[in-house]
Amino acid sequence: MKIAMVGSGYVGLVSGACFADFGHDVVCIDKDPAKIAKLEDGIMPIYEPGLDALVESNVKAGRLSFSTDLPSAIKEAAAIFIAVGTPSRRGDGHADLSFVYAVAEEIGASLSNDAVIVTKSTVPVGTGDEVERILQASGNSNKFAVVSNPEFLREGAAIGDFKRPDRIVIGAEDEFGREVMNEVYRPLFLNESPILFVNRRSSELIKYAANAFLATKITFINEMADLCEKVGANVQDVSRGIGMDNRIGAKFLNAGPGYGGSCFPKDTLALLKTAEDYDSPTRIVEAVVNVNDSRKRAMGRKVIDALGGPDAARGKKVAMLGLTFKPNTDDMRDSPAIAIALALRDAGVDVAAFDPEGMEIAQPLMPDVNMCESAYEAIEGADAVAIVTEWDAFRALDLRRVKELAKAPVLVDLRNIYTPEDVRAAGFTYESIGRA
Ligand code: UDX
Repeated sequence: MKIAMVGSGYVGLVSGACFADFGHDVVCIDKDPAKIAKLEDGIMPIYEPGLDALVESNVKAGRLSFSTDLPSAIKEAAAIFIAVGTPSRRGDGHADLSFVYAVAEEIGASLSNDAVIVTKSTVPVGTGDEVERILQASGNSNKFAVVSNPEFLREGAAIGDFKRPDRIVIGAEDEFGREVMNEVYRPLFLNESPILFVNRRSSELIKYAANAFLATKITFINEMADLCEKVGANVQDVSRGIGMDNRIGAKFLNAGPGYGGSCFPKDTLALLKTAEDYDSPTRIVEAVVNVNDSRKRAMGRKVIDALGGPDAARGKKVAMLGLTFKPNTDDMRDSPAIAIALALRDAGVDVAAFDPEGMEIAQPLMPDVNMCESAYEAIEGADAVAIVTEWDAFRALDLRRVKELAKAPVLVDLRNIYTPEDVRAAGFTYESIGRA
């Protein structure tokens, strides 16, 4: 089956490569000629474990190709996925759908066979209806159906998530759409991945509801962590204790510096806007957004406190380990590290940092931060070390060496990757999240 993937960003590229790996004939399309040229040379525009090898093997097998020419690339495709960006619109936080609609117009103008048009981009409820209107208005005489098929890929684990999904959600309004999507996902079907057919609007909302729920879960445990610190409880034990209840579930209960990334911040905001437009307020999500926002800067204050408070902190140096919003990605979007670095700068603290993948993207976002070659270089002369992202490389630091290099043995572990007893036994002052 031939599949066209319009948009070769994170979602489009991972999905396209995985579909090709299932045996489909896939062409990934992008407007950016430089990106396509690089992909043809085997250079990935993003860091995602395993993606380069997957792309390489499928290109070699002749199942995956790249193009900037949408009209000819979509020829004979039975399914055309729209996987372009839907960033938060400047000014009001609504999802910006201009890229999605521009692609729909281009498809309408050039479609030369019957096809299913699938929105893979995260789009607000009703976007599928608008895409359908655009296609109808184009006067194209081929049979088409517009289907919603949200992605649930986690950065850093995207290939595994695609190949072994908890579920596949398809929002289709007619039999033609359902049939083609069944064919697209047949390989996963055989893998016994559940496929859920719903109507298009439900499918669009499922994506936002899932992300908002997960963001709520994280924010809830983060607030519990603050309470744990006040009452002398341990948030990891509390997480375990509630997570063992199947109705709650153990995942996404790790307290930390607040969620970031390309999805949760943007999607929670867009959901608030949709709810507002339909006069159906989602106050829980509203609170989640606010609590998470203020938490990031509060983490900066936590580091300042570890330096002895605002007066003592001025002129001191902090080593920040980890900048990306989570490990195994170079994505800096809405990373708590940005707010933490700003809070430290405002307090007159110098920051040296190391991140295994994110420094190039991080540098313009935090121009005052001194990017280092290694964790130990950042730690040299630091008055406190702050672990901001839980990269594996930071899980087993040589604490003796850290103590020798740093000016003062102070460790602020915003991801709880160390055991307080071990770190204190090594002679450190240790602060973590939700562990008194
Ligand atoms: C998320 C969703 O998981 C995915 O299904 C969706 O399609 C896109 O958004 P992603 O943004 O890649 O994926 O990262 P995820 O692993 O979900 O983490 C998001 C943020 O929450 C990170 O900042 C992470 O550090 C934080 N987090 C996650 C916690 O603080 N605690 C947790 O227990 C889990």
